[in-house]
Amino acid sequence: MKFTTLALLSTITTTTAFTAPRPSLILSSSISSSSALQSTLESPPERTAPSAGSTPPWEDRPGLTPEQFMASDLSKPDLGGMWECPLTRWDSDNINVKEAQKLASKAPGCPFEIRASKADNEMGAAYFSKNKDMIRKQLLKHGAIWFRGFDLMKSVKGNREMHEALGLDPCLDPLHSSGLRKFASERDALYEEVNKPSLRGHYIGLHNESTAKRTAAYAAFVCFQRATEGGGRFLVADGAAILAELDTKVLEKLYNRKIRISVSNLDIPPALPGIMKEGIKNLVDVAVAPKFDMDLEMIYESDGKPGRLQAVETAESPINRHPVTGMPVWFNNAHNHARKLRDRRPCGVPEVGMTEVFYADTMEPLDLEDCMEIKRASEKHITALSMEPGDVLLVDNYRALHGRDVFQGDRFHAVTWFTWDDNEQWRGDERRIVEKNAFNQAINQMMDWLPKDFESNQN
Ligand SMILES: [Fe+2]
Repeated sequence: MKFTTLALLSTITTTTAFTAPRPSLILSSSISSSSALQSTLESPPERTAPSAGSTPPWEDRPGLTPEQFMASDLSKPDLGGMWECPLTRWDSDNINVKEAQKLASKAPGCPFEIRASKADNEMGAAYFSKNKDMIRKQLLKHGAIWFRGFDLMKSVKGNREMHEALGLDPCLDPLHSSGLRKFASERDALYEEVNKPSLRGHYIGLHNESTAKRTAAYAAFVCFQRATEGGGRFLVADGAAILAELDTKVLEKLYNRKIRISVSNLDIPPALPGIMKEGIKNLVDVAVAPKFDMDLEMIYESDGKPGRLQAVETAESPINRHPVTGMPVWFNNAHNHARKLRDRRPCGVPEVGMTEVFYADTMEPLDLEDCMEIKRASEKHITALSMEPGDVLLVDNYRALHGRDVFQGDRFHAVTWFTWDDNEQWRGDERRIVEKNAFNQAINQMMDWLPKDFESNQN
């Protein structure tokens, strides 16, 4: 039955979503934002590359060949049965926005940089076990650590030795159940980042690796091969700094109204009778939405486009207190997902995977002024890292946001997600069920039309 349903949906999307003309956006913010996709629109806005507060120079350090860096240490156990991604720890009630901004403005800068000396490199993995306490302390303080020039992490094998020495405990990607996340080396709990040529030209905005439901506690992003023909800087920004930076009025508005994020568009012919549209909505709700392990609601025409069915996450606060430190931070994916920002920068996602951010109370898309303030404040605090082979960015995912600039040529970056190792009660007791997953993947092969942007969330 499921296969029949999916085949039907596949047909619908093939004939509608993929062939639908790309909607233009309004340029004038005086027009109601909810009418952004209506037919009386002006020409599309100009696309410009986003800026960054800091862009360190490249150093051209050499890497290994793919055969060398992909080799796994087969004497080590298979980590394929890793932990499920833990549930999101929300602590966002009763936040005084002005006080939160004051507190956040005192947070130490991000990322903290650790550069390998010759002696550090000679120690190999022992450097990380010896300095484990210092590293974990700096991670909590700064929100991210950029390890530069370490020979150890030039390979899958050494990268695993690094996070094992730090006592980090791998978990699944928050969207693993969708089948759209691919492993670089499953037995090493290593996912591939978005290196594929079709998404080279797509700028991935700032986000936490998080849905309203699940959030990884930490991440280690590693570079094995930088983009061969340029670009591909890895972006990181401090959620505390962005919170402090944002215009207080905009922040209060977003906090009071909350946000909701739509993660896919399914364009149903508007002329279809209501009963058929309802039937399609129910099919998607029952057969497809559960694959994403998110709390999704199917809603028609929220962005004003006739016949459009969107899968929308539950309402969430754009500010959250850090689970360990209590520091209030900007904790949401609006910079990545807001349609008005995507339409103004390099974006290679098909219409079916385009996202939008709404005010939760009225389900109107975020207006242009708020989007531009989010853009300004976010990009001012981006460090656009020049990651070279062996470099790792260790991220506290409840504090720092990440993204990726466009690139040319070939690139190979990868990531391991981690659950709570020091607060086991937050980890839950779910582990990956590998057999079930294999069945899911078979089904997911038929769902190739589904939101490709889920992949692009992974940098
Ligand atoms: Fe990501």
